Amino acid sequence: MKNLIEDIGLIEPTEVEACETVKVLEDQHTGKARKLYIESYGCQMNFSDSEIVASILQNEGFDTTSDIAQADLVFLNTCSIREKAEQTVRNRLHQIQSYKKKKPEMMVGILGCMAERLKTKLLEEEKIVDLVAGPDAYRDLPKLISQVDDGDKAVNTFLSREETYGDITPVRLNSNGVTAFISIMRGCDNMCSFCVVPFTRGRERSRDPHSIIAEAQDLFNRGFREVTLLGQNVDSYKWSEVENNKARLEKAGAEKIINFANLIALVAEVHPDLRVRFSTSHPKDITDEVLYTMAQYENICKYIHLPAQSGNSRILEMMNRGYDREWYLKKVASIRTILGEDCGISSDMISGFCSETEAEHQDTLTLMDLVQYDYAYMFSYSERPGTLAAKKYADDIPVDVKNRRLEEIITKQRSHSHLHHQKDVGTTQRVLIEGESKKSTAHWQGRTSANHVAVFPKENKKKGEYVNVLIESCTSGTLLGKIVN
Ligand code: SAH
Ligand code: SF4
Ligand code: F3S
Repeated sequence: MKNLIEDIGLIEPTEVEACETVKVLEDQHTGKARKLYIESYGCQMNFSDSEIVASILQNEGFDTTSDIAQADLVFLNTCSIREKAEQTVRNRLHQIQSYKKKKPEMMVGILGCMAERLKTKLLEEEKIVDLVAGPDAYRDLPKLISQVDDGDKAVNTFLSREETYGDITPVRLNSNGVTAFISIMRGCDNMCSFCVVPFTRGRERSRDPHSIIAEAQDLFNRGFREVTLLGQNVDSYKWSEVENNKARLEKAGAEKIINFANLIALVAEVHPDLRVRFSTSHPKDITDEVLYTMAQYENICKYIHLPAQSGNSRILEMMNRGYDREWYLKKVASIRTILGEDCGISSDMISGFCSETEAEHQDTLTLMDLVQYDYAYMFSYSERPGTLAAKKYADDIPVDVKNRRLEEIITKQRSHSHLHHQKDVGTTQRVLIEGESKKSTAHWQGRTSANHVAVFPKENKKKGEYVNVLIESCTSGTLLGKIVN
């Protein structure tokens, strides 16, 4: 079996951070005069935004290219979440200098969270940069580009209270044609003390549910079979029909307010064959109503990303997370009661937050033992300028201690992930085929409702179909099985 695993290639769920991946939008060939190369860092929000940017610039005479050497316009859509994320972008800018030398007319722009955090400072610090646009300024890009065409530098980092890009259909360029992300809100009002997002993304605002449902319906009509609803804190999704002066959504009954539970029900009703996922749920805000709605709809996947950040109540208080260890464990108990043991739960964890003692770190490990997460994204604390923690607390845990604690968290998570996959062995799981396995053209890859990745021989099935897979073996990252009737 080991050989097969190596052949097929497995995905390690415990890999430290999706935020360190880079995505480049694929080529468009619609005969536009100028070429846009766009590289995205950070979270799914940024990847989603890049598709909105491509959509806006499509109407301005730009086709995307995945070859930077061909580009007239190079955009880096950046992340500020940890110092390392920003350093990666700075290093990349130095590499881009060599392309610009060969092609001096190449325009270089910084988008996203680093643009918002550093604003005009970026123009001073990185001479190669011509254009800086924050996450709420993408509609202004045509104007900013023409400013650079005229020989000026261009900056727009205004944050909006309303912008959701709700009316812009993102061009789904790097798509597998089966799964897609739909942004349902922007910004964050939480002010977790370690986090830069409220500063880079601004105030929280929810997108019009009519446009969300229309986008889900359109994706389904085009053959997509799964949507993931995206927001920094999806449980605080809120849309007032009266406030927004719109006709009420019929299916929401008498409610004037559409909350997150109402929204997932509406999206689930688009079609029973459209799977619904969402991220991120906040432990202080997730309601039993959401859990009961998940239970009610077969097509809402039984998987919740519920970042704990720490297992210690004093640290959680300092983090300004709005819950303590007991509250968190109660939420997990509700999930288990309402959705059963099979509902996947994942977390984010931060090691070595300001003043964290060895005993408090142990609390994180024991919380992990109690919850037994399916997956986790794990980080060591990185102080971000301007955040509450940077102002109030000393970043006083030595790097080697942070790293050792992180290692302990990762090791524990790996064993729990393996345990969860082992529990699936011998069961039959409904899997949506998302595409070919990364390493074997003879195998499909897809996910179970609980978000476990399964790999199995293709038979005569097609991408986008649901199949029942008998799980025969596993690693900590992947289930291996065969299609059964
Ligand atoms: N809105 C989501 C998280 C968005 S950021 C939530 O509330 O959970 C993704 C993850 O990055 C966070 O969950 C946190 O674990 C991590 N993170 C954020 N700021 C960080 C920092 N300063 N240092 C290390 N990790 C951080
Ligand atoms: Fe950051 Fe907290 Fe908002 Fe998540 S909820 S984006 S961690 S401030
Ligand atoms: Fe990074 Fe901004 Fe997302 S800081 S994680 S790209 S919201």
